[in-house]
Amino acid sequence: MSRVAYVNGRYVPHGGAAVHVEDRGYQFADGVYEVCEVRGGRPVDERRHLDRLDRSLRELRIAWPLARKALGVVLRETIRRNRVNDGIVYLQVSRGVAPRDHAFPAETAPSLVVTAKNLDHDKAEATAAAGIAVITVPENRWPRVDIKSVALLPNVLAKQAAREAGAKEAWFVDPDGRVTEGSSTNAWIVTREGQVVTRPADHGILRGITRTVLLDAIAAQGLSLDERAFTVDEAYAAREAFVTSASQIVMPVVSIDGRPVGNGAPGLVATALRRDFHRFAELG
Ligand code: PDD
Repeated sequence: MSRVAYVNGRYVPHGGAAVHVEDRGYQFADGVYEVCEVRGGRPVDERRHLDRLDRSLRELRIAWPLARKALGVVLRETIRRNRVNDGIVYLQVSRGVAPRDHAFPAETAPSLVVTAKNLDHDKAEATAAAGIAVITVPENRWPRVDIKSVALLPNVLAKQAAREAGAKEAWFVDPDGRVTEGSSTNAWIVTREGQVVTRPADHGILRGITRTVLLDAIAAQGLSLDERAFTVDEAYAAREAFVTSASQIVMPVVSIDGRPVGNGAPGLVATALRRDFHRFAELG
């Protein structure tokens, strides 16, 4: 089955889908994006993702490319045309196409691209059952990582460093030795006392939708939560660690910088939260 992408009002074959060479997303990373999980052919937590998109667009003064309801229709249609059952739907909005000039163009319609793909469910479960390795890297991003911008070069370099170290994720560490977040995930630990710890969603991290929903799951499981920044040393000494994102849900971390976390196997808290997550998510 051939894949289809939505590009500025048209559904086109994925292989040839393209934006203009002067699209500001391409030239300046002047755009934002969202990644939604798809489950049973339906977007997960669409409302929260579109609320966050709205915030990102406002912060950058980019207009909505379509009415919110129409965008929801495009998301569903892209999922349907690609026969996505369990996977992700990706949307990107840029400030649009204009002659290259750093300042905002006077009148340009924003560009919209939507793609969707299936993810291998069994492979993801096998990865979760084994757990992943992470490395730590110095935080080198701009202070506004709360905006879900497509300007991801530091994240790209961090992920590549992880890959070259045989790990799956890199955690950024601020100048005080505290973990901010992963290159494409939020970071969590469970202390020896059983307290779940994650950094507050201030301007130092992206306010992950998975993170937000997981706070409900944590409360429902009666776990104790401390929203505070944790150090790399605390993470080394933790009983458990895990990461969260729309595409990985809750993914146990079994080693950090080559040191085993806890007993070196996925932890009970992370495993239980992964199992329960979708009871707290909204299916669209
Ligand atoms: N990444 N932090 C960063 C830097 C991210 O890029 C992401 C998401 C998250 C988790 O956010 P959420 O729970 O809303 O997915 C945290 C997406 C999945 C990506 O870039 O593919």
